[in-house]
Amino acid sequence: MGESSVRLLSPLQGREAILFCTLDRPDAKIVPLLWAAIAAREGGASRVGLVAPYLAYMRQDAVFHSGEIVAARHFAALLSRHFDWLVTVDPHLHRIASLADIYTIPTQCVQAAPAIASWLRATVIRPFLIGPDEESRQWVDDVARRCHAPATVLHKTRQADRSVEIQAPDLNAAVERTPVLLDDIVATGSTMVAAARLLRGAGLPPPVCVAVHAVLAGCAYAELHAIAADIVTCDTVSHSSNGIALIAPLAEAVSAVAGMAAR
Ligand code: R5P
Repeated sequence: MGESSVRLLSPLQGREAILFCTLDRPDAKIVPLLWAAIAAREGGASRVGLVAPYLAYMRQDAVFHSGEIVAARHFAALLSRHFDWLVTVDPHLHRIASLADIYTIPTQCVQAAPAIASWLRATVIRPFLIGPDEESRQWVDDVARRCHAPATVLHKTRQADRSVEIQAPDLNAAVERTPVLLDDIVATGSTMVAAARLLRGAGLPPPVCVAVHAVLAGCAYAELHAIAADIVTCDTVSHSSNGIALIAPLAEAVSAVAGMAAR
């Protein structure tokens, strides 16, 4: 039938309800999620919070072609209407500077950089951090500082969803180091694959590819796997590449924002 039906089996009267739903492939999840939030509220929950380790639609942060919408704003309005607070991990903040610019509820953003840096320090010898585009600079600089490693970002031009062109600055600093490509999201994989190919073309060894959100649509993982030394992601979207756990900082953020909403 394709219609969602939810039923809460536990009494929620006066209780804080926390829904946990990572929002990759969001369209199939959003209706049941909103039904669950409404059911919690109608069931008497004092507050209804959402933990969405991956927050969808943040990359649709501008009208790129006429007729499009800024979906990030409308998605924010939708979630703000049904939840009292939101916790997420490294949302794609680029043209929108802060979640507070589009969400009208309290939000808390967990940063993946400390966990990524600690994984790199334990696993990769003499890393050289490389961001595939300017938008990745915020993660690359933060992780590089925490690892005391050199870093650079490449220059990307996106022609279409699955077509990007990448140019490199001087990569001399990478010599005798392990190249580590770092980005917030791998979606179609076009960005990471093009960046990895460029590094290989420049004579560097296969890179270790690290991403916060393993959206990894279609053949993205297989294509990247063919050129990378390793692919490691945070566990915000369940995937076999998950190797960096964020449960502890997520739990801290939930305590902080749930307390804030309660005041
Ligand atoms: C945008 O600039 C993001 O930081 C990622 O680089 C981008 O979303 C990756 O998308 P894809 O894997 O489809 O190239």
